Amino acid sequence: MEIRIFENKEALSRAAAQYFIEVINKNHKPVLGLATGSTPLGMYEKLIEAYNDGEVNFKNVKTYNLDEYCGIDSNHEQSYRTFMNTNFFNHINIDLINTNIPNASGDLDAACELYNSQLNENEIDIQVLGIGTNGHIAFNEPGTPFGSKTHCIELDQKTREDNARFFNSIDEVPTHAITMGLANIMKAKKIILIAIGAQKAEALRKMILGDVTEEMPASILQFHPDVVILTDREAVKTLIK
Ligand code: GLP
Repeated sequence: MEIRIFENKEALSRAAAQYFIEVINKNHKPVLGLATGSTPLGMYEKLIEAYNDGEVNFKNVKTYNLDEYCGIDSNHEQSYRTFMNTNFFNHINIDLINTNIPNASGDLDAACELYNSQLNENEIDIQVLGIGTNGHIAFNEPGTPFGSKTHCIELDQKTREDNARFFNSIDEVPTHAITMGLANIMKAKKIILIAIGAQKAEALRKMILGDVTEEMPASILQFHPDVVILTDREAVKTLIK
């Protein structure tokens, strides 16, 4: 694991975007693995800027998102489809047909199966991840098997509490989601994980220095050959003095 510590979010977001720009510019048909949450927003802003400046072209790009809430429509203002369209896809020249997010509003088993077969056929060149305060990546909560593929999961109470800030109340936060599994994520050729702020410090410490255990899903990344962690001083304060 390579760890890069940034002085501010601006520089971190620019560096994160740069990894994606390099992959897009050197592949004929790049496949990107994308994430939601507040953490990657700055990176998406930088990618939009790069597109506007003519540094990157999304015409041949295909994307796969990590996860989607069950029980809310894809047009719901807090669905991850809405998040991606609003914060990224609507501002670049990507064909929406090439953007994939699990369909969590119909037959869930069929949606998981379809997503797995799509991921088998399309190797992700670069995947961005955030991390939950309980160590989840995507929505793979503690206890998720390392061998898991795309599946439906019940969200931890902690995750629902963390994400309640996006809804009117915690009661509105969905109880379930479809998520790429840990085995799907580990197949990505390159992974960048972004962790910002003191609230991520404990999860980050356990992910990097702790045992590799299903109780800390992100710890599986210790076994991936190409992971870069982009972080700030607050998030690594328990790692360095
Ligand atoms: C969400 C997402 C994750 C994300 C994490 C952290 O629930 N499913 O993909 O990494 O929680 O979110 P944030 O970046 O807002 O802290």
